Amino acid sequence: MPPTLTDPFDRRIDYVRLSVTDRCDLRCYYCMPEGHNDFEAPQDWLSFEEIERVIAAFGRLGVQRIRITGGEPLVRRDLPVLTARLAALPGIEDLSLSSNAVQLERHSQALYDSGVRRLNISLDTLNPARFKAITQGKLEKVINGLMAAKASGFAPIKINMVVMRGVNDDELVDMVEFCRKHGFTLRFIETMPMGDTGRNAAEQYMPMDEVQAILQEHYPLVPGVMPGGGPARYMQIAGEELKIGFITPMSQHFCETCNRIRLSVDGTLYMCLGQDHSFALRPLLRAGISDAALEAAIIEAIALKPERHEFSEKPEQVVRFMSMTGG
Ligand code: GTP
Ligand code: 5AD
Ligand code: SF4
Repeated sequence: MPPTLTDPFDRRIDYVRLSVTDRCDLRCYYCMPEGHNDFEAPQDWLSFEEIERVIAAFGRLGVQRIRITGGEPLVRRDLPVLTARLAALPGIEDLSLSSNAVQLERHSQALYDSGVRRLNISLDTLNPARFKAITQGKLEKVINGLMAAKASGFAPIKINMVVMRGVNDDELVDMVEFCRKHGFTLRFIETMPMGDTGRNAAEQYMPMDEVQAILQEHYPLVPGVMPGGGPARYMQIAGEELKIGFITPMSQHFCETCNRIRLSVDGTLYMCLGQDHSFALRPLLRAGISDAALEAAIIEAIALKPERHEFSEKPEQVVRFMSMTGG
């Protein structure tokens, strides 16, 4: 039997979300505060060698899925060099990336060639002025990035739309039609109160049953399935390929089936998106820890994993921004 990582609540941990930078080339208002510049210093970033060592250890412990996140991961220089090394590690079967796609047009082919196969792209609106208001960036770059990704052969490409009342909830059908036309999967996400920015946006929180009800007025939705390791619940339009996912961290949390932990760019393992339990690997790596001791440290860290988030009970609790762990 290959080894497996199991947490105190008997959940198998086989998915690592790896943040390769806490920087971002957008400023989505629900994620990173305007003017934020309190970023990790380069000497504190894990190097590619250090990341590879940690992910190799996870691979030996039975982790099969790695998702690259940020901030915005494409901001990290030479990312395809890292992803090629991770794709080659024994045990790693699913290498995916979550990105805002601003720089994807330029990097798409190299990423694909390095072994990344699945892409999740944030896109909350198809209106350029609204995109600018939400993110401070240019929509055109994202659309160009998406088209490049399609041409490179990524499959599936999932679009993540954070639904916010009064901000983009009038675009649900437009977004469905856009994804239908281009063969993308669409996922709607409930806003989480992460850091002060997320808490402000939580005022626009819209539960997914409401989103689903609006869609059902337009489309005959039936249950669907989709490859992936995450918490989305899928529906599809009867008789069509298009899949629509609903991610409900607030209205119906999915903590019982949580399978993941997060590694931030400074080498800290975060046990839960909605809690502060953490374990610092960088000091150990830089003190020359052996592979066996690294594996033992990871097992020790997993024992700290809490049962669930408490976004609803204690919305003030999490002080770190979403950009530190990339969701
Ligand atoms: P796949 O299913 O493997 O494609 O990935 P994913 O949906 O897990 O990853 P993605 O980065 O696209 O995340 C989509 C949304 O789900 C983001 O808003 C994440 O913050 C949220 N999310 C992902 N994992 C968790 C989790 O463990 N807990 C909570 N509360 N939210 C999560
Ligand atoms: N609540 C829900 N989703 C969020 N994301 C960023 N901030 C939040 C938040 N406060 C999403 C991004 C991206 C994904 C990785 O996390 O839009 O698609
Ligand atoms: Fe798991 Fe925490 Fe996410 Fe819940 S919030 S699903 S416990 S990582």
